[in-house]
Amino acid sequence: MRKITVNASKTYDVIIEHGAIDRIGEYAISVGISGKACIISDSNLAPLYMERVKTSLEKSGIEVCQYVFPAGEASKTADTFVDILNFLAENHLSRKDTLFALGGGVTGDLTGFSAASYMRGIKFVQIPTSLLACVDSSVGGKTGIDLRSGKNLAGAFYQPEIVVFDPDVLSTLPKEYFADGMAEIIKYAVIRGRELDKLILEDTEKNLEEIITRCVEIKRDVVNEDEFEGGVRKILNFGHTAGHAIEAEADYTLSHGRCVAIGMYIVTRAWEKRGLCRKGTCDILVKMLQMFSLDTECPYSPETLTERAKSDKKADGSGVSLVVPLSMGECEVVKISMDEFLSILKDGIK
Ligand code: GLY
Repeated sequence: MRKITVNASKTYDVIIEHGAIDRIGEYAISVGISGKACIISDSNLAPLYMERVKTSLEKSGIEVCQYVFPAGEASKTADTFVDILNFLAENHLSRKDTLFALGGGVTGDLTGFSAASYMRGIKFVQIPTSLLACVDSSVGGKTGIDLRSGKNLAGAFYQPEIVVFDPDVLSTLPKEYFADGMAEIIKYAVIRGRELDKLILEDTEKNLEEIITRCVEIKRDVVNEDEFEGGVRKILNFGHTAGHAIEAEADYTLSHGRCVAIGMYIVTRAWEKRGLCRKGTCDILVKMLQMFSLDTECPYSPETLTERAKSDKKADGSGVSLVVPLSMGECEVVKISMDEFLSILKDGIK
């Protein structure tokens, strides 16, 4: 069992343990959870794990109700959010009760935002079941929903009581979702290093648990330093400004990880071309992306993406904060105008 402690506005542990899915009840009790629970999951994950989590909670004396929504980003809406709140009220959950997010990033974000909002805030637990959720979205307290104008435009910083990840769940993860998570892992390799590139290139499968642990440790360090994204936390958005623009332009038919992969490539290529990033960094990035069939070809023009990026929540009237790599494992944040963003896209898109 590996335990990584986050010291944000709330202190909590991220547990990585084989078989943990059947011990959720014990972990809940260990952090003082009792009373009622609502497990929130999607239509893909509920058939696989709902019963096991429910049984474990009930064995620990916790009364359980369950809410299942259709799998996919299209469910991360105000409608689902309000439906969850109504469901919680109809099932008489009180301020002392707890939500359990059983699933990937969409489930974690929706559940966390529901927990932050219901009765002005109740407890919640993250049980990530995807690679992306365990290394990124389940840790650090970002919760939210999408609005018509873009992703994650409404939400709250709201930390869980505990994050419990069972690596065994990855065995049921479809290959494309695995690649999605690898894109976020490769992001950590570029922004903070910790020799993640070597572990990935050597043997990702063999090194996977160590890779996941290092990513969570990096995220812990960043969140400890800057929970509310006033500064250093922005580095976690590497590849995301262009990536979100591609995702939106594709009407969310391309996965988040695939879009972030293209976004990371564009910025790294442009920065290296300008002599601002160590030569060879982009080659290492491409080598890692190719291992997981993550494409680097951008399907849209620089002009189209710049228009899209203007409605990204990271953009304001004076431009956007862009994360740029300096070498493998080292990056910085630069504030640039939208004209400069356009010029970077022109340099970076093949
Ligand atoms: N996923 C980026 C962050 O948590 O800040």
